[in-house]
Amino acid sequence: MHIHQYEKIFLWLTIGMLVIFLAAIANGVMSHGMHVASPVGRIADPAALDQTAPFDEPGLREVEPGVYEAVIVARKWSFTPKEIEIPAGSTLTMQISSPDIIHGVKVLDTNINIMVIPGQISQVSHQFDEPGEYLMICHEYCGLAHHAMEGLIRVTEPMAADGTVDGAEGSARGEG
Ligand code: CUA
Repeated sequence: MHIHQYEKIFLWLTIGMLVIFLAAIANGVMSHGMHVASPVGRIADPAALDQTAPFDEPGLREVEPGVYEAVIVARKWSFTPKEIEIPAGSTLTMQISSPDIIHGVKVLDTNINIMVIPGQISQVSHQFDEPGEYLMICHEYCGLAHHAMEGLIRVTEPMAADGTVDGAEGSARGEG
């Protein structure tokens, strides 16, 4: 079979690109610890999420200075709590579940992007170094008011040693 020379070049370019992309993925997994968001737990009865720990008490708690955990309920069509406030430099771990249907969570200007599935606890961590307002949106179509399903992560200026706020006011970010 005769293959035109240009076609051969394109075939090898294609194979070469595939090898480069696969190598990039392998490098991310092995050297940078990248992984898909994985469920950390199950909820036996999603409809009873409001009575199931820890989702019976959604909110933010400080585990230690600079380390926060947020328990978040995503339901048609809101996040509870709607707003989270942490100082810059903090690491935030979010555990999210849904009592009704599938939602998604994307936090703009970060790489937080996970699905929220009834019966499953989704967990994601992120270190917020830059003060500002980070919009949290539902990115999975979930009905009439999907577009209005949003929350906010407010990252404040870090506290200085003397207890005063360091630096200027935070900038608004991530509209839309
Ligand atoms: Cu919840 Cu879209």
